[in-house]
Amino acid sequence: MSQPSTLPAPRVVEVIDTTPDQPWQQRVRLRPDERQPIGAQQVRIGMLAMTILPADLLQMQQRYGVQPSLPYVPGHEGVAVVLETGAEVGDLPVGQRVMPLGAGGLWADERLVHRRSLLALPAEGDALQQAMLAANPATAWVLLKHMGLAPGQWLLHNAANSAVGQCIRQLAEHLGIPLINIVRRPQAIPAGAGGHWLVDDGLDAHALRQHVLQITGTQPVGLALDALGGTATQSLAACLSEGGRLVVYGLLSGQASQIGPHDLVFRGIEVRGFWLARWFGEAANRQAGREVYPALLELARQGVLHIEVEQVYDLGDVALALAHAAQPQRRGKVLLRGIHGRTPAACGAA
Ligand SMILES: NC(=O)c1ccc[n+]([C@@H]2O[C@H](COP(=O)([O-])OP(=O)(O)OC[C@H]3O[C@@H](n4cnc5c(N)ncnc54)[C@H](OP(=O)(O)O)[C@@H]3O)[C@@H](O)[C@H]2O)c1
Repeated sequence: MSQPSTLPAPRVVEVIDTTPDQPWQQRVRLRPDERQPIGAQQVRIGMLAMTILPADLLQMQQRYGVQPSLPYVPGHEGVAVVLETGAEVGDLPVGQRVMPLGAGGLWADERLVHRRSLLALPAEGDALQQAMLAANPATAWVLLKHMGLAPGQWLLHNAANSAVGQCIRQLAEHLGIPLINIVRRPQAIPAGAGGHWLVDDGLDAHALRQHVLQITGTQPVGLALDALGGTATQSLAACLSEGGRLVVYGLLSGQASQIGPHDLVFRGIEVRGFWLARWFGEAANRQAGREVYPALLELARQGVLHIEVEQVYDLGDVALALAHAAQPQRRGKVLLRGIHGRTPAACGAA
């Protein structure tokens, strides 16, 4: 397919400096991108919307699990439309909505990716919600389904208003898992939200445990999910029942996880880390991994999953968008929009 002549030339974002505390406009640049010839098994995709994830911000501070050398094109998650397919790609029509998985480098108007890194999406879905499906809903799904939570046990999680937290809550409700949501400020509790909420604005571990016990009584608290690290890890550990499991999956506090030997030695609390990319890569999870996205697409279709959006910026305003995404107390996610996502029809309410 030839490119529509009315579209401006594609642009791409590059990270050029990972020195912490620099203004965002000195860390990233936008440059014109050249359209390269397509390979036989490649697909040219036009990005509709791309999420700014904590993982992107961590990578820009050299604090992530994978660190490309400079300059690099950032972006782990987004939704796109097929613009052109290589000679050996027969199953993706032009115009098909797709989710690039594991491709990386998505903050661009157009990308050439291998066919196998694309998942076909329904055309009728909200593009912004589809753009946010790859990382956080999948993380919530795996944490709930594959971290050893037994039927009838309570689940506890912090940063409950984060995107992962929203998905954990929606999935737990859908699956009938009893859940306690912890946030750090009362305003983060959604208006009219049901369920159990606790505000930890500096409680010590003992005080948090007392609040949890008032809700759970004698029922077991089997799993705690920690997005923060620092002292929050100890607080969650204290709230678990004996033999419970604590999974650290985020490092939002920027501090090393603290946990006392009493919980580890005498109460048998088990601590482990979790990274979705690593989980997908482990051979033992191959079958379970194949089931994640079909399940999430079905749940999205049913309206079970919905992540709040704070604002959508044009790719050209990437520095402004990054500054916004790095701010606390957001209502939801900050996203970027490529040239192919400029029409409301292409990109939901964006
Ligand atoms: N391990 C994995 O595979 C994996 C996958 C996906 C995400 N994650 C991690 O999951 C975490 C959440 O990601 P997200 O995209 O859902 O985040 P998000 O939507 O950007 O939300 C960030 C949340 O963190 C809270 N927060 C930030 N710093 C905090 C602190 N020091 N103490 C307490 N709360 C704090 C914010 O609260 P306020 O609203 O009060 O500011 C907000 O609720 C991140 O650490 C991310 O890297 C991990």
